[in-house]
Formats: sequence, structure tokens, C-alpha cells
Amino acid sequence: MTKPKSLLDGIGSISITKKYYDDWSEKYDQTLDQWKYQAPKKSSFLLKQEIKIKPDYILDLACGTGLFGIELKKIYQKSKIYGSDISYKSIQIAKQKKIYDNLEKYNFENKHIYQIKFDLVSMIGSMTYCKNFDKLFENVKFYLKKKGIFIFSHRLDLWLNQDFDKILQKFSKDFKILNISRPYNYLPLNKDFKNKIKIRIVLLQKC
Ligand SMILES: C[S@@+](CC[C@H](N)C(=O)[O-])C[C@H]1O[C@@H](n2cnc3c(N)ncnc32)[C@H](O)[C@@H]1O
Repeated sequence: MTKPKSLLDGIGSISITKKYYDDWSEKYDQTLDQWKYQAPKKSSFLLKQEIKIKPDYILDLACGTGLFGIELKKIYQKSKIYGSDISYKSIQIAKQKKIYDNLEKYNFENKHIYQIKFDLVSMIGSMTYCKNFDKLFENVKFYLKKKGIFIFSHRLDLWLNQDFDKILQKFSKDFKILNISRPYNYLPLNKDFKNKIKIRIVLLQKC
């Protein structure tokens, strides 16, 4: 079996990533707390500051064990929150938190599975794993209501390597850029990331 690459290098194929997160799921929250993972809190702060609508339906893609779901629930107590991830074991941990109204095992690059339309789609800490931006953005476009919001974080080192500004430009007829945050530390107490690897948080609105 192929060995997983490091977290810094993006782990590997879908099946390797899935196993990596399955194996990590029970310790994931504890480890991320030790590494001072702030993306969920920073993202919900940005939402609170910039978005005035209260969403009826939220879809948290690559929700993992639900760390962003917890933050969503704090600001949107009445919203119905759907979550999905490729890691079944992470989903089982998310389920115990009782914040999601629906949880599915789902690869965000696969054909869409939800029939309802969402006011807000999130994907925090997971853009690293996107191998096909066309498929992801097509799915998000399908899932969102008109004027719905897509919030995601993305690593700045990958952003530059991928020329991500051009990628956003490519989708600009479907998504208007509302906000791109300043760079934040990602996992400051992880020895590979420290304050070397930063993220930006992006808010898009479906046209
Ligand atoms: C760093 S974790 C982030 C989880 C959560 N959003 C958070 O902020 O804690 C990355 C997650 O992406 C999931 N993932 C990776 N590739 C995926 C894909 N193609 N479809 C769905 N989930 C994926 C992993 O299983 C993992 O749970």
C-alpha cells in the first residue's frame, strides 16, 4: 500500500486521505487544539461580520469531526446544518456532537447528492484536497440558492503555486468575490507549519 505523504504535502489519493483521517479521527480534535487550529473561529467571525442573512440551510463540506459545525451552530442556532466528508469515522465523531441535522459520507468532487438548496456552503481546512476545482465549484453552484454564500479557507503556499487568483477569476461569472481575508496562521504549533504556512478565508456569493 502507498504510504501517505505528510499533512504539509497534502497526504495523497482519495483512498489514502480517507484512511488517514479515519485513523486520526479519535484524536483529531485534541491534536488540532494542541496545534492551535483557528480556522473555524476565524471563519465564523468573518461570517458574522460580513454576512447579514440568517441561513435556513447550511452545507458543511469536508466537515470532518465537526469543528466548524460547532462554530456555525453558535452563530446560527436555528439553521439546519448538513455535513459530509469522505471519512466515515470522522462523521461518526461529528454525529456525537449533535450539531448536524444530516450527515453523509460524500466526496465533494462527486456528482451532487443533495436535492435541497442551501443558503450557505462551507469548506474549511479542506481546499488542500481539491483535485478538480471545476467539479467542486460546479457542485457548490448547484447546491447554493441564488445569492447564496460559499466560505472556504485555502493555504497561501498552495494558492500561489496553483495561481488561485486565476482560478477565482475563471469562476467569476458564477461567483462574486465578497471578501478575501488577510493571511492568518494555520497550525502555528505544528512543527511543519509553524508561522510559515498561512491561510486566507474567502467569501464568495453565487451570482
Ligand atoms: C483538515 S480536515 C478539516 C475538517 C473540518 N472542516 C475542520 O475544519 O476541522 C480535512 C477534511 O477533509 C476531508 N476530505 C478530504 N478530501 C475530501 C473529499 N474529496 N471529499 C470530502 N471530504 C474530504 C478529510 O476526510 C478531512 O475530514
